[in-house]
Amino acid sequence: KKLAVFVSGGGSNFRSVHEASIGGLVHGDVAVLVTDKPGCGGADYARANGIPVILFPKTKSSAEGLSPIDLITTLRNFKVDFILLAGYLKLIPAELVQAYPKSILNIHPSLLPAFGGKGFYGLKVHRAVIASGARYSGPTVHFVDENFDTGRILAQRVVPVLANDNAEELAARVLHEEHQVYVEVVSALCEDRIIWREDGVPLIRSRE
Ligand code: GRF
Repeated sequence: KKLAVFVSGGGSNFRSVHEASIGGLVHGDVAVLVTDKPGCGGADYARANGIPVILFPKTKSSAEGLSPIDLITTLRNFKVDFILLAGYLKLIPAELVQAYPKSILNIHPSLLPAFGGKGFYGLKVHRAVIASGARYSGPTVHFVDENFDTGRILAQRVVPVLANDNAEELAARVLHEEHQVYVEVVSALCEDRIIWREDGVPLIRSRE
């Protein structure tokens, strides 16, 4: 299977998926990296590993970047089957969601639907979790719809919030778990092990 990964930041989840793909744990290849920040760590990692980098979206002030329609054409040219958001901070346009039904995943660093939605990104998520007094947090992998963090949940991992945690410490504990769970889910996706229950809930079938 061919994967497109969308990144705006450091790209540690991108890196763990790419390493799993090289190591044979994920039966898919990262065909292309899409970013709104061409200087981000994820884009540097892609270039260093021979993965084409595409700038999206096009901004009003610059001729650089692709429009949604051109992005879809480009992804089709790369024969992309699945799209993985990995710290990509822009909303995915409806055209793209419709062009890739049940094929776009995101990873979020809280137990959705808690602490998700517009404005909940990066350390803000972990600060809000700590301020709430919640005893547990952890990553959620979900399908992407037209809004932030509201698509169907596929997998979650529980991580304790310790009494004296600061946001950085909690973020690191959650991120460690993100790397594991994203690889597991992407591996299932590439092996067609996602099944959809009649009520629209996706489930992961374990390997036979
Ligand atoms: C992760 O915490 C992810 O859950 C969120 O953005 C962060 C990206 O981290 N969507 P990285 O760029 O993969 O290191």
